[in-house]
Amino acid sequence: MPTELLYLTDSYLQTASAKILDVQDLNGQTAVILDRTVFYPQGGGQPADQGRIMGELGSLQVSHVSYNSGEVLHNGQLEGQLSVGDEVQLVIEWPVRLRQMQWHTAGHILDQAVKNTLPESKSVDGNHGIGKKLYVEFSAPIHAAELAAIQDQLNSIIEANLPITFEMVTKDQLVERHIHLPFDLPGNKSLRIVQIGEYPPMPDGGTQLHTTGDTLPVLVTGVQEKEGKYRVVYEVETVVPAPSVTSQEELPPVQNVTTTSQTQSLETLVTSIAALKQKLESDLSHQEPDLITKYLGKKGHFNELAKLLRELSTSDRRQAGQVLNELKLNLETKLHDSNPTAGSEPSWVDLTVPGITPPVGHMHPISQAMEEITGIFERVGFTRVRYPEVDWDWYVFTALNMPPNHPARDEWETFFVAAAASPDKGQMVLTTHTSNGQVREMERLHSQPPIRMINIARCYRRQQDATHTQMFHQFEGLVVDKGINIQNLKGTLDYFAEAFYGPGTKSRIRPFHFQFTEPSFEVDFSCHICNGTGLVTDPDTGENTKCKFCKSGWHEVGGAGMVHPNVLKAGGINPDEYTGFAFGWGIERTYTLKQGLNIDDIRLFYSGDLRFLEQF
Ligand code: DAH
Repeated sequence: MPTELLYLTDSYLQTASAKILDVQDLNGQTAVILDRTVFYPQGGGQPADQGRIMGELGSLQVSHVSYNSGEVLHNGQLEGQLSVGDEVQLVIEWPVRLRQMQWHTAGHILDQAVKNTLPESKSVDGNHGIGKKLYVEFSAPIHAAELAAIQDQLNSIIEANLPITFEMVTKDQLVERHIHLPFDLPGNKSLRIVQIGEYPPMPDGGTQLHTTGDTLPVLVTGVQEKEGKYRVVYEVETVVPAPSVTSQEELPPVQNVTTTSQTQSLETLVTSIAALKQKLESDLSHQEPDLITKYLGKKGHFNELAKLLRELSTSDRRQAGQVLNELKLNLETKLHDSNPTAGSEPSWVDLTVPGITPPVGHMHPISQAMEEITGIFERVGFTRVRYPEVDWDWYVFTALNMPPNHPARDEWETFFVAAAASPDKGQMVLTTHTSNGQVREMERLHSQPPIRMINIARCYRRQQDATHTQMFHQFEGLVVDKGINIQNLKGTLDYFAEAFYGPGTKSRIRPFHFQFTEPSFEVDFSCHICNGTGLVTDPDTGENTKCKFCKSGWHEVGGAGMVHPNVLKAGGINPDEYTGFAFGWGIERTYTLKQGLNIDDIRLFYSGDLRFLEQF
């Protein structure tokens, strides 16, 4: 039987009562299916809610919620017992939901802001917090230069504090109202659409804030190209959420409520709670026996009161649920304090026992470094691109001025793929460096500079020891335009040095040789432990000793140079008209230097050993 989705009509509903339809045991975890729910199941880019499902004999700490053919599965850790047919109380973790709703609504506002700025653009995907990723993806190009205008549009939609409204519509109504959907709606189905102010509605099944002004400031942080799609990435400011209504005193005064039968019930509930608290005080002072059973037992006073919840209107139920929760905590604390051995009572659930905190993961350190490096270059107008990691010899070597059998190729210990060679692009290899992106990027832009590319990818070489892994990561920068010179390269390296390693870090270039650049350089960054001096001063003795981290004041990180005319030609660009610079180096080394780490064995990064990874 399908679960009724209460959040569809009220995104602010935090509590409800429901009936258990099914309880499934999934290897130590429990999945509960209810007749109705306030829990949002992960989907549409919005993460699942968390919270608690409370029955008389047990409760479920809900850690994940998913949707399966009309049924919502509440997954988590079961304490005590929940059975089919049980009436249960549902409470979602409100700060978590509110944050997820802010992310979700912000995504819709951003979508509209992009459409206002670039009316031709169509959003094709979005992620509003799953895996902590926030972006909206578009099918047509969006350039870094357009982000400021998008940000302005976004700010003005938020400032206008536009209402966000929902509606269920049928296919006929959509046609009547000229609403165009990116997909076809089956004839007999209805669909929920969300509308920001008077903007065209969009289909949406998630939870949304009441108005655009309810979100926190939203910042567009970049645009990334991914397989021909353009992801506009955003952030939502974080503040500690104000506490929601938790005590009876904060409820609207009872006298002000109007006299419908439902609000009468809320009034009755509030009065009954006050009376129950008084009765408890008196029972405690008279040292009445069996108070825990009388108050919190199956047929106890609390459960009698909780039954009133069912008779309330949806909006009142939210407040009433909070007040009842607060009352339960209050009763438990008082009864516990008066009878510290009460924990052994089997007939009630102690909600004050701290929950089981699920372990929280984080991004792999190399992924963290990749995100940071991308951000640094996007801020100065580079676009992140990704190219195949299994590529033709042409892009990896030949187009980079290394014709077949050229000795320079020996420096890259290459894995060859046992597949038929292409007549014009040669053999297939695992990319040995990200420089394969250079000519691919020139081709993507139809040999039309300006080019400002940052290509981050996995690379592969036939080497494996404490300082090398067969798979590793590199990032590659490429800039091609009229009048680009070494100063531009040096300026970019200096900018990166300070942005990544911190203020005061300097870059140094030394003459070197690469086939694909002329002139070519090796790139060093000044050591941030000894500030590039190679010496550290002992704070006690004042004595200078050699810096153990760098030994010379500098760390070599990678290569760079002015793009060789033959490489420009291979990408169809006229070297008499355009010049360019390129640089490239490994992420693993760049990252460990930043952390001031001398990692004895770089293979640890890929060992999957949490004792190592958890440190970052
Ligand atoms: N591809 C080179 C390597 O893997 C590094 C490199 C050197 C990249 C110079 C560049 C460059 O773009 O200009 O060793």
